[in-house]
Amino acid sequence: MREVLPASAMPRHVAFIMDGNGRWATQRGLERSAGHRKGAQTMLDLIEYCADLAIESVTVYAFSTENWSRPKSEISQLMGMVVDFFKKYAPRAGERNLQIRFLGDLSPLPVPTREACERAAALTAKNTGMICNIALNYGGRAEILRAASRLAAQVQDGVLTPAAITAADFEAQLYTAGQPDVDLLVRTAGECRLSGFLLYQCAYAEFVVVPEYWPDFTPAVFDRVLLEYAGRERKMGGLKT
Ligand code: IPE
Ligand code: IPE
Ligand code: MG
Repeated sequence: MREVLPASAMPRHVAFIMDGNGRWATQRGLERSAGHRKGAQTMLDLIEYCADLAIESVTVYAFSTENWSRPKSEISQLMGMVVDFFKKYAPRAGERNLQIRFLGDLSPLPVPTREACERAAALTAKNTGMICNIALNYGGRAEILRAASRLAAQVQDGVLTPAAITAADFEAQLYTAGQPDVDLLVRTAGECRLSGFLLYQCAYAEFVVVPEYWPDFTPAVFDRVLLEYAGRERKMGGLKT
């Protein structure tokens, strides 16, 4: 894809709503957990592929603030998978110079999961390559509320005045501070909704929905998405050029 598309036609920040693991498994007569396991491998392959393509930031939606409403058994399987994933992947990400970051409040996670995440982030913090954001216990509304509350605290401390608050001040309080806005938002499994993902950062993102379930989202499918993205006209509120 790198040979086909010029760098100017490539997105700087790609975000993935990894949906359809459960349907993938059910369709095969398997437990939903089998879909999540296969989905974790797909995520690993995709992250590596994005790094090969020299994409600057990749964000994957791994667990939403609303996903706590799922059965306890599924939640604990997912939390266990996060531990296994980073045990295997953190050293490899380190070798590839990737920076693993987490978007969301990790404090309510089971301790082994939280520790695995903190270890992966610490191990890769000094790297300078692609930023890989894992949205875990993430919700866009929660993120915006958190930013508002942090700004309010700055006002209370006399660091800022309400009238002086700029977009840059607000963005500095988001989990994605310092990273570009999302250029390309991909959702698998056909659903056309945001489910609370990156509500602020996706203001002008190009949205591509593919019918494939996440475990079937191969680099070849992503190539197709990138071609579609490259053909879109991004006017950003302006007029046709
Ligand atoms: C996405 O797949 C993974 C998570 C939300 C953790 P789903 O588990 O939502 O799969 P479907 O939508 O039920 O098929
Ligand atoms: C969105 O998928 C969240 C993640 C991919 C982690 P969901 O499956 O939870 O979203 P809804 O319920 O279909 O909106
Ligand atoms: Mg789903």
